[in-house]
Amino acid sequence: MPWFRTVRSEVVVSNSNVVWHKPVVTRELREKRNGHRAATLWFTGLSGAGKSTLSHALEERLFQMGCNTFVFDGDNVRHGLCKDLGFSEHDRTENIRRIGEVAKLANAAGIIAITAFISPFRRDRDQVRTSMPQGDFIEVYVKCPIEECESRDVKGLYKKARAGQISEFTGISSPYEAPENPEVVIDTSTQGIVESVDQLVAYCRARGIIA
Ligand code: ADX
Repeated sequence: MPWFRTVRSEVVVSNSNVVWHKPVVTRELREKRNGHRAATLWFTGLSGAGKSTLSHALEERLFQMGCNTFVFDGDNVRHGLCKDLGFSEHDRTENIRRIGEVAKLANAAGIIAITAFISPFRRDRDQVRTSMPQGDFIEVYVKCPIEECESRDVKGLYKKARAGQISEFTGISSPYEAPENPEVVIDTSTQGIVESVDQLVAYCRARGIIA
């Protein structure tokens, strides 16, 4: 970065001893160059509901359309950034807080962030929503009856949870609070993947995120 650019950037002083450094290359400049807006599509739902499958399918479609995207997936993030966290209420809250912050950074980088976390607590999701600029947080409820998730049992975890080998398992021994007013609902027990991706792309268009 040439020196004349760095001197044009601004430092905003906050109350404490840390300051917010305003970038020269702003989100708006990045969005203009990308040809689409940044936003966070926050997928929430039970384990096995189809959050990961759907979020990667959506990413693939958006990527083919030339969009800058990234999927933050619960299982993957728990291998690194959140590997110190378990599944207690406290740890899940911290998990979601961190992902909310990472998604905000991704949006600042002009990226359409797609997150796939159970995020079972309404207040944690609402906290992320209110921490973001208005309109950035798009809650996508990946709806599927627990019986269906359990019969799919892709990872064999429901079986283990029923056998008492996993504690605090969402939907069995830990609660899942469904969204009350999600922007999008996808029922994976009745809708196919292509239809669901079409629905999400149409929503992004209607909201002016993509052209
Ligand atoms: S969250 O509740 O904190 O949002 P997250 O989405 O990161 O959860 O991780 C969920 C994934 O972790 C599940 O898809 C499943 O593979 C695995 N997992 C392991 N233990 C549990 C548990 N006790 N409850 C739910 N999921 C679990």
